[in-house]
Amino acid sequence: MTRLLAWHDEWSLNIESLDAEHRGLIELLADICHRFGPEASPRRSGDASALIDALTDLGEAAREHFKREEDMMHAVGYEDMAEHRTEHALLMAEYTDQLRHWRAEGIDVFDEEAQNNARDWILDHILGADRDFAKAFHEIEGHLPAPGHPHDVAEQSRLNAARRYP
Ligand SMILES: [Fe+2]
Repeated sequence: MTRLLAWHDEWSLNIESLDAEHRGLIELLADICHRFGPEASPRRSGDASALIDALTDLGEAAREHFKREEDMMHAVGYEDMAEHRTEHALLMAEYTDQLRHWRAEGIDVFDEEAQNNARDWILDHILGADRDFAKAFHEIEGHLPAPGHPHDVAEQSRLNAARRYP
C-alpha cells in the first residue's frame, strides 16, 4: 500500500504566498498518485496519455512557481538569488528529462518508485534552497519596517514635534 502524500505543517516557511504554492504542488502530486497509483481503479489508471498530461501540468506548475519565487527574491534584493535561480533551472532540466523518459517508456501507472522520486524532487526544493531564502527573507523583512509601521509613525511624530518646537 502506497503511503498517502499530504502536506506537513513543518514544511511551512512562514511566508504565506510561498507556503500556499508549495501546498498546491504537493496537492497536485497527491492527486496524480491517487488517480494513477497502483491502487487506483483500473478504469482511471492505465491511461498513459492522461498520466503524461497530468505530469506535464505538474512540471508547468512548478516552473510558474519558480518564476514567482524568483520575482519575489528580486523584489527583496535576495543576495543568493543567482544560485537559487540556477537550482531552479537544474530542477526543471531534471524534470524535463524524467518526463521524456516517462513518455518514451509509455508509463500508465505511477508506481511507488516514481511517486517517491517526484515527492523527493519537490521536497528537496522546499526543504533545501527555499529554507535558506525564507531565513534571509525574514531577516530582510524584520529590518525594513513596512509603510505605516509603528516605527515610522513614532519617527514621524518626533520629526513633527521637532519642527513645531524648534
Ligand atoms: Fe519554492
